Amino acid sequence: MKNPTLFDVIVIGGGPGGYVAAIRAAQLGAKTLLIEKDQLGGTCVNRGCIPTKAMLADAELYDRAKHSSVLRMEGLRVDMKQLLMRKSEVVKRMVTGVQFLIRNNGITFSQGEAKFIDRTTIEVEGEKGKEQFKSQRIIIATGSVSAQIPNVDVDDKVILTSTEMLEVTSIPKELIVIGGGVIGMEFACLFNSLGSEVTVIEMLPGIISTEDEEIVRGLATLLKKRNIQIHTETKVKEARVKKGRAEVTVANKEGKEVLLSAEKALMAVGRSPYTDGLGLEEINVAFNGKFIKVNEKMETSVPGIYAIGDVTGRQMLAHKASAEGIVAAENISGRGTRVDYSRIPNCVYTFPEVASVGMTERQAREKGLQVLVGRYPLQSNGRALAMGDTEGFVKVIAEKDLGQVVGVHILGDHATDLIGGPVLALALETTAEEMGKTPQAHPTLTEAIAEASLDALREAIHLPQKRR
Ligand code: NAI
Repeated sequence: MKNPTLFDVIVIGGGPGGYVAAIRAAQLGAKTLLIEKDQLGGTCVNRGCIPTKAMLADAELYDRAKHSSVLRMEGLRVDMKQLLMRKSEVVKRMVTGVQFLIRNNGITFSQGEAKFIDRTTIEVEGEKGKEQFKSQRIIIATGSVSAQIPNVDVDDKVILTSTEMLEVTSIPKELIVIGGGVIGMEFACLFNSLGSEVTVIEMLPGIISTEDEEIVRGLATLLKKRNIQIHTETKVKEARVKKGRAEVTVANKEGKEVLLSAEKALMAVGRSPYTDGLGLEEINVAFNGKFIKVNEKMETSVPGIYAIGDVTGRQMLAHKASAEGIVAAENISGRGTRVDYSRIPNCVYTFPEVASVGMTERQAREKGLQVLVGRYPLQSNGRALAMGDTEGFVKVIAEKDLGQVVGVHILGDHATDLIGGPVLALALETTAEEMGKTPQAHPTLTEAIAEASLDALREAIHLPQKRR
């Protein structure tokens, strides 16, 4: 093997954590190598955020047309082949975009599987054989894979993870979703809209347990109206493939075992960090449970080795991984930046969507804050009415003393785009008064955020008067 090529920074993993870290490192003048064994873009672009959103967009179109009181579309149906093709084209365009950015930033790309030889040496095994690279600064960004639970036989055909679910060529008559978290609920909405009978099994008292309880209750009510069966406090004990069907045994609220049967079952019980074959044992990096332990600079316990994204746990979100990637690259160049996790938004692409930033009401109260809570229903918003999208509401939580907004939660169509304003508002430590009185264009959904902020002060204009 020839002498290892030397780089300033090596990034392992080309997902939204890794490729962003590589770009930022290159922007800061580092000679950078990015290693990826599969397609650039990682889970987000290839098997997660992007393909699901492409499929959800088509499912939503179908759903709207089906339920429209205006459109008359006899024989309306979904062409699953076209839907999958469009999804693949979207993914391809995104991958091509990332490839372009890597080239454009002068980053060296190595296609293959990376493993640590020692603290500064990485070996990549690709189609052309083995090659070694050296750097004093290495960023691990290898992501995560679907978590498994005992007694669930994932065969990738009848009992599947989200990866295979993105490739099903026909719409299953029945779908059991194991786990009512983010992945579970997005797929539940997707296949419910396409025509499947969907049953969600969630062991906790509510679905998407990280969100504000009031928002979650609202979402669950709306999803039940769409005929999605949701069983909370119900645990999956076993799932087997029998005669080509998924047989799922659950223990219900009363502790009784019930057998459910469906054409397909989706396993969505979380994700586990992916570090297989990486040779971490060679460098003795410290773990925090299953995840690589990092400090706020994204440094691991081993000097010169950084880790970002899903391998480090916390919120497993593409945009959190990217933020950490930027911080790692900047710290490598001596800038001393850090991620503010309290202002990372959460977006759930259900029908309707959920989006939030900051604390839930419970978290704010548990922190001992005196809070003001404002709400505004979308059915009172002119734009929502005009669009026929009146399901949901906005909830704003502000602390009482200074009126600073500490949490914004939105249930409703376009929530995931609407949350951008509140994200910035929290970053700028805005008050409910500033958020409520800054004029917003009319008619827009954004007005609902302003009204909810004013409602926290009991000054909403378009709500009936309340006693203070
Ligand atoms: P999750 O942690 O959000 O939800 C898994 C759910 O499964 C939990 O509510 C848990 O209580 C339940 N569960 C576990 N074992 C069970 C059992 N035996 N029976 C019944 N229920 C059981 O994990 P999920 O949905 O798989 O997503 C993985 C990660 O990917 C999450 O961290 C999520 O944030 C991220 N993600 C984010 C998206 C977004 O931002 N829009 C989209 C998809 C995934």
